[in-house]
Amino acid sequence: MIEQLKSIAEKALRDLESISTLESLEELRVAVLGKKGSLSEVLKGLGSVPAESRPAIGAAANEWKRKLEAALEARRTELEESRLSVQLEQERIDVTLPSRLAHSGSLHPITQTTRKIIQVFARLGFDVTTGPEIETEFLNFEAVNIPKDHPARDMQDTFFAGPGVVLRTHTSPVQMRSMREKGRWPVRILCPGAVYRCDDDATHSPMFHQIEGLWVDHGVKMSHLKGVLEFFAREIFGSDSKIRLRPSYFPFVEPGAEVDVSCFNCSGRGDDGCRVCRGSGWLEILGAGMVHPRLFEMAGFDKQAAYSGLTGFAFGLGVERIAMLLHRISDLRLMYQGDVRFLSQFRA
Ligand code: DAH
Repeated sequence: MIEQLKSIAEKALRDLESISTLESLEELRVAVLGKKGSLSEVLKGLGSVPAESRPAIGAAANEWKRKLEAALEARRTELEESRLSVQLEQERIDVTLPSRLAHSGSLHPITQTTRKIIQVFARLGFDVTTGPEIETEFLNFEAVNIPKDHPARDMQDTFFAGPGVVLRTHTSPVQMRSMREKGRWPVRILCPGAVYRCDDDATHSPMFHQIEGLWVDHGVKMSHLKGVLEFFAREIFGSDSKIRLRPSYFPFVEPGAEVDVSCFNCSGRGDDGCRVCRGSGWLEILGAGMVHPRLFEMAGFDKQAAYSGLTGFAFGLGVERIAMLLHRISDLRLMYQGDVRFLSQFRA
């Protein structure tokens, strides 16, 4: 019987050498070691062997089984490895191929311009504050010295959201909110945000963006306003920029001014046919002035203090206007159409 076991096992070991697939390896294992395999079949005859020879046969059978299992296992590992390496070879990835570029977005020109302006004023110590876009009619108008029925209301065609509630027509109410919240001075803030007016054409959109500035303290003068705005103009439009102030009227300031910056395209010369300034040499960029004392009163500042030298300046600018000037965009509506061909030109 031991001879029988030996010849089965040796044959199996020889067969193993010519096996080249995992499937036939499994077949061989079942044929020899399986429940009905040749080795098991032989061992079924163990019962008819004299009891004293059984241990030796058992030991020999176990020994062959162990050998065979080890050999099968080794062959299996080999076959698996070679199958894997064939697969790796077939599914080879060429890492030297140029990749397909992922489309990356970029910040909207309005956002880029807003951030740029904030950075300039941050260097002068202005803190960024924001207010709600749905505002009370009171804060949007009365509190910044535009009483009901005042003709100045006509300058800002208003969307009403409900009785006494408007979509803010400018960022000036944030001046009032900040002064009221803080309840004291100094106040030095910059308020960016969306504003709304019933307007719609190539240079006006029903929603646009403003940045409001406010600096309130004892001894703040018009010359400070000029200095701050000149610094801003140079940082944004170029170091040789100049500004000029033209007297103008805004209810929340006295005196008030419209502020122009020298044309960065023709260096302020007003060249015939300059496409940016149309030959005037100047570009209107914002409104500004010295804070009307009525606003301090409306803010609830102590009257005594308010009338003993508390002053301030304020300004308000349109972000779209500045972005359009800087990038020579001719139609405001391009800003809101989400056209990738337009937007992708503003990758930083
Ligand atoms: N709120 C004005 C507007 O929307 C802009 C403005 C002008 C703001 C003069 C100011 C200012 O703070 O002093 O037309």
